[in-house]
Amino acid sequence: MDARLIVYALLLAAPLLILVRRRMNPLYRIPAVGHSDPFLSYWSALKFFVNAREMLQEGYSKYRGSVFRVPLLDRWVVVVSGAAMNEQLRKYPDDQMSFIDAAEELVQAKYTIAKQVHENPMHIPVIRGPFTKNLAALMPDVADEVASAVRDAIPDTGDEWVGVVAFPAMTRVVCRASNRVFIGLPLCRNPEYIDIVLGYTKDVAKGRFIMTITPILLKPLVGRLLPWSANALKKFSALVKPIVDESFRQFEHHGKQWEDKPKNLLTWLTEEAKATGNGPEIVVSALLSSNFVAIHTSSISVTHALYHLAACPEFAAPLREEIEGAIRRHGWGKQAISEMWKLDSFMRESQRFNGTSGVSVIRKAVVDVRLADGTVIPAGTLVGAAADATHWDEDNYDDAAVFSPFRFSDMRADEGERVKHQFVSTSPEYVPFGHGKHACPGRFFAGNELKTVIAHLVLNYDMKFDGDGARPPNRWFAAAVLPNLDAKVYFRKRQAASA
Ligand code: HEM
Ligand SMILES: *[C@@H]1O[C@H](CO)[C@@H](O)[C@H](O)[C@H]1NC(C)=O
Repeated sequence: MDARLIVYALLLAAPLLILVRRRMNPLYRIPAVGHSDPFLSYWSALKFFVNAREMLQEGYSKYRGSVFRVPLLDRWVVVVSGAAMNEQLRKYPDDQMSFIDAAEELVQAKYTIAKQVHENPMHIPVIRGPFTKNLAALMPDVADEVASAVRDAIPDTGDEWVGVVAFPAMTRVVCRASNRVFIGLPLCRNPEYIDIVLGYTKDVAKGRFIMTITPILLKPLVGRLLPWSANALKKFSALVKPIVDESFRQFEHHGKQWEDKPKNLLTWLTEEAKATGNGPEIVVSALLSSNFVAIHTSSISVTHALYHLAACPEFAAPLREEIEGAIRRHGWGKQAISEMWKLDSFMRESQRFNGTSGVSVIRKAVVDVRLADGTVIPAGTLVGAAADATHWDEDNYDDAAVFSPFRFSDMRADEGERVKHQFVSTSPEYVPFGHGKHACPGRFFAGNELKTVIAHLVLNYDMKFDGDGARPPNRWFAAAVLPNLDAKVYFRKRQAASA
């Protein structure tokens, strides 16, 4: 047969096949925000990149109680709307709606992080287990590192105001404080180490961006060509591997009964690796992954909180009173922090008002899933909850559009509500950490760490923005929420500093 004929036949058949497949695919029966047809949907996907907040809100308002879909450049994401739907989503078992597969799909971890981590994410049980159980032992070190890192981040100008670009400063504080209990002194203060860790997050973001604009069929090819994360792992490894090797040697030397083993993530990762028959390499990648999940989210969150403080200096007085009392009673540590209800409430309100993502509780349908209302979500589809729209929903919060720092501590004053409404409590109405079985296992540490940073700043500095004093607007990249990255916060030593 004439080769040209075959080409023509294929050219004719391809669009038809695509149309038929679309007709049959239940995904296309779910209402779309933006254009649904193949070519214009690219335009909507570009729009989503800058206008995600508005598009998610539009879908949320229109399709409340059900689902809608929004376009990314390489796929559709189905978004559930309303607290009841968030609850429905988180309840599906892993073999229907998988968190791990969704995270892998979005981050492409096997290319952007490291293959071993994708195959054996052992940092997750270690963070959920020994790391979180030992928080009380870790917090004095975190407080010490926060004090030292803040001293380095905010130049001492006597009693003068000094402007500091907040986001990079907070990122370094969080990086040092976290690594103090991930891997310990002196590495947590080593500038080269800090640069590698912080650069890595950016490298992954770069890789991830390239992967989202790469068509699904080409992903394996392009993924293997991404150079950055492999380079970062190599540099990270050069500094960290000797310390991990030493930890393995110490365990061999002391045996299981090692009484005064250092209390940090490195130690517990080493124990886990030995228990599961793994070597030092996997501990190195697990430390890098832990940094990846911990630092960026925490830096964003603490900067949001700092911006609220700087924009509303009147929040400082009630916080100071509470923090000073708790520290007087217990010294810096987990006990004191657990008594700071107003600070907890302030941080939770900041997280509600200005989260880290417009979509959370992410899952991937592993099989065709039929929702209670009959909608079918076909296998392979990414699904998530409209976090920001949920948090700004008047049905879920009175005066949802008002930043009300002590709304949650006021609710807890009620006897029956004591243990609810805390920074770390997830619910269908509160999903900054996800919700359900896969909710962030690092949030107990994050809560303690971030409260330590803010408490330290509130006790030692007055804070404000320059000019009209207003908080600069956030930046959205697709569903990711970032605080303004360049804004300066002005600090002045508090005249009667007390801690
Ligand atoms: C304020 C800071 C943080 C925020 C907003 C945050 C948010 C999240 C979210 C939304 C998820 C996904 C849950 C879901 O979709 O259901 C998650 C997962 C995770 N987070 Fe965090 N996180 C923070 C800090 C941390 C820290 C400090 C650590 C480590 C010490 C950490 C470790 C993890 C891990 C290991 C997972 C994966 C859980 C799994 O696969 O089951 N996070 N986090
Ligand atoms: C963050 O805070 C500002 C006000 O300070 C608000 O206008 C904005 O809508 C908030 N939320 C997000 C997610 O952008």
